[in-house]
Amino acid sequence: MDIMIAVQDACVSGQWLTAIILSLCCFLPSCLPAGQTVDYTTSSESVVSRQGDTALLRCYLLDGISKGAWLNRSSIIYAGNDKWSGDPRVSIVSNVGDKHEYSLQIQKVDVTDEGVYTCSIQSERNLHPKLIQLIVKVPPKIYDISSDITVNEGSNVSLICAASGKPEPKISWRHISPSARKYESGEYLNITGISRDQAGDYECGAENDIASPDTKTVRVTVNFPPAIHEMKSHGVRPGQVALLRCEAAAVPSPVFEWYKGEKRINMGQGIVINNLSSRSVLTVKNMTQDRYGNYTCVAVNRLGTANASVPLNPSNPAMYGSTGGAEVLLACWYLILALSSLVTVY
Ligand SMILES: *[C@@H]1O[C@H](CO)[C@@H](O)[C@H](O)[C@H]1NC(C)=O
Ligand SMILES: *[C@@H]1O[C@H](CO)[C@@H](O)[C@H](O)[C@H]1NC(C)=O
Ligand SMILES: *[C@@H]1O[C@H](CO)[C@@H](O)[C@H](O)[C@H]1NC(C)=O
Ligand SMILES: *[C@@H]1O[C@H](CO)[C@@H](O)[C@H](O)[C@H]1NC(C)=O
Ligand SMILES: *[C@@H]1O[C@H](CO)[C@@H](O)[C@H](O)[C@H]1NC(C)=O
Ligand SMILES: *[C@@H]1O[C@H](CO)[C@@H](O)[C@H](O)[C@H]1NC(C)=O
Ligand SMILES: *[C@@H]1O[C@H](CO)[C@@H](O)[C@H](O)[C@H]1NC(C)=O
Repeated sequence: MDIMIAVQDACVSGQWLTAIILSLCCFLPSCLPAGQTVDYTTSSESVVSRQGDTALLRCYLLDGISKGAWLNRSSIIYAGNDKWSGDPRVSIVSNVGDKHEYSLQIQKVDVTDEGVYTCSIQSERNLHPKLIQLIVKVPPKIYDISSDITVNEGSNVSLICAASGKPEPKISWRHISPSARKYESGEYLNITGISRDQAGDYECGAENDIASPDTKTVRVTVNFPPAIHEMKSHGVRPGQVALLRCEAAAVPSPVFEWYKGEKRINMGQGIVINNLSSRSVLTVKNMTQDRYGNYTCVAVNRLGTANASVPLNPSNPAMYGSTGGAEVLLACWYLILALSSLVTVY
């Protein structure tokens, strides 16, 4: 027997539920009689919802007498106002105004709810199925990212960042630095022969069109041996304070040692050494004849050693002239050195 005739018979005889079930059966391809098709395109629409939100699938009855039913794929959720589904998140939104709303509300929607829902409206002789495609989108979430790493300069570095989401998020990397370099998108960030200026924080961003991007950062520490880039002294007369300043770039921070000629200098007896991460200042509180000579600063970390030497002289003719101007210049020099050592200490 032709199923459509069966449906119409059921409608006429007032067995609306049978009619609906039979008509819904028609949407299942296996159930369609040969040569008969259902036009899905005419009344299909889609609803996009974000995971966790409440989805509303709208449907309206034709009048106060017509009946409706809701299906999730091939299982009945509602027949009229009878709930067949055991899912507590599902309910009917009925608004008996002039529009006779018969919408399906799904709370805390999830990706498993995605699919085609059918609202079937039965009246006098006709059945009006409305197909609604529910699309559930998921905000991007980074679920795996490389831990902070420490490497030696020149190493090859590979960072990974993996994210979930629907649609699949686009992953990009950014070096957080003033001279930020742009990296190609993708889960991996590969750096061949890393340099010291590529050290710092790398931010991974996962982005799709459903929510703001998810971001996480990885800190990359690049170790390199010391290099002394400044070694200064200022000649002073006996009885005055002498300062020697040594600046070195190194990661990890260097340990400083001072030598006078071949002899290691230690704190005490009028000598003070102040160390900061990249700088060491040696102060001779009361200059004496035997303290003039050649001073060497040695900076050491576990990757290497660097040294620089500078002579500490009793006088410098250009600086130690008898003119008042030179004295002012000297006072200035001394102030600068004293300030720089203060900055070093505090
Ligand atoms: C729809 O059907 C799918 C598959 O059976 C199920 O996982 C999902 O929970 C159902 N959703 C609703 C709202 O009934
Ligand atoms: C780093 O990568 C380059 C190019 O892929 C390769 O030639 C080199 O051997 C690698 N170095 C190390 C230490 O793995
Ligand atoms: C980056 O490195 C990873 C792991 O070492 C590798 O699987 C991937 O193919 C590399 N990607 C590129 C673009 O070189
Ligand atoms: C510096 O040393 C000289 C000679 O040892 C001494 O006469 C003088 O008082 C000292 N000055 C200070 C400020 O300690
Ligand atoms: C500075 O470093 C030297 C050499 O490591 C050490 O002897 C000295 O005690 C340090 N001084 C301070 C103030 O940390
Ligand atoms: C100072 O000492 C260093 C290390 O001992 C040495 O290499 C350098 O030649 C010396 N400089 C002078 C001017 O004596
Ligand atoms: C200073 O460095 C030179 C080579 O750069 C090395 O020969 C010398 O031994 C070093 N001096 C010290 C005191 O470490």
